[in-house]
Amino acid sequence: MNRKYRKTIIAGNWKMNKTPSEAKALIDELKAKIGRQKWCEVVLCVPFVDIPAAIRAARDAKIAIAAQNMHYENAGAFTGEISAGMLKELGVKYVIIGHSERRQYFAETDKTVNLKVKTALETGLRPIICVGETLEQRESGIMEQIITAQVKTALLDVPAEQMRKVVFAYEPVWAIGTGKTATAEQAAEVCGLIRAVIRAKCGARVARSVTIQYGGSMNAGNANELLAQLDVDGGLIGGASLKADEFTAIVNAANQ
Ligand code: 13P
Repeated sequence: MNRKYRKTIIAGNWKMNKTPSEAKALIDELKAKIGRQKWCEVVLCVPFVDIPAAIRAARDAKIAIAAQNMHYENAGAFTGEISAGMLKELGVKYVIIGHSERRQYFAETDKTVNLKVKTALETGLRPIICVGETLEQRESGIMEQIITAQVKTALLDVPAEQMRKVVFAYEPVWAIGTGKTATAEQAAEVCGLIRAVIRAKCGARVARSVTIQYGGSMNAGNANELLAQLDVDGGLIGGASLKADEFTAIVNAANQ
C-alpha cells in the first residue's frame, strides 16, 4: 500500500454465492464487525440479483456495491445480459471486468475487456480490471508478456483523465481458489509491472494514483504481508469474503 498516492480497496468477490436474503444477512453481519475504516474502501461484488438487497443493506455503512460483469453494449438483443446503465441506476459503483473465470468459461477476451472498460467508464462505473497468467504461462517464462498485453489492450483508447477511475487486480490464475497464494514478492513484482505498463502509457503521475489489488487465495493469514508491499493496494478476495470474520480481519489488516 502507498496511501500517500492512492486508495486502498478491499473488495470481496462473492462469485455465484448467496441469495438476496443471504446477502442481506452477510452484510448485516459485516456491518456489525467492520468498524470505521479510515484507510480503505470496502467493496462487495455480488451476484446481479443480490444488488438491490445489498445496496439497501449497505446503505448506512461505508460499503460500496459492485457487479461481477456487464455487457459492453448499452442496450439491444443480448438475451441474458446486463448493461452498465442498468447497474448504474441501481447504485452500483464498481464492476469487475475480465475475471479469469469469465475469460476461461465465458470466452471473455482482452478485446471484450477493453470494450467493457470503455463502456463502464462512459457510464460512470469504476472498472476493476482483472489480469493474470496461468501456471503454464508462468512456467514457460511468458508471464511478463501476457500481463503486459492484457493491461495494454484493456486500456486501448482509455483517456489518461479517466485513469483515476480505473482499478486493476492482479489475479494469477494458479492462485485462485487453490489455496496457493502468490508470495508477497511475486505479487509485488507483477503489481509493479502493471504500474510500469500504465506509466509508459499515461505517465508517472497517473500511474502512481491507480489502485492495484492482489487476488488469489488471500486470507486473514497472508493479508498483512501482501498489503505491506508498496505496489499492492488492496485485495480482491473470493472464498475468504464469504466469511464475515475472515473478511473483517483482511479489512483490519488494510487499516493498520
Ligand atoms: P479466492 O480468494 O477464492 O482464491 O478467489 C480469488 C478471486 O478470484 C477473486 O476475484
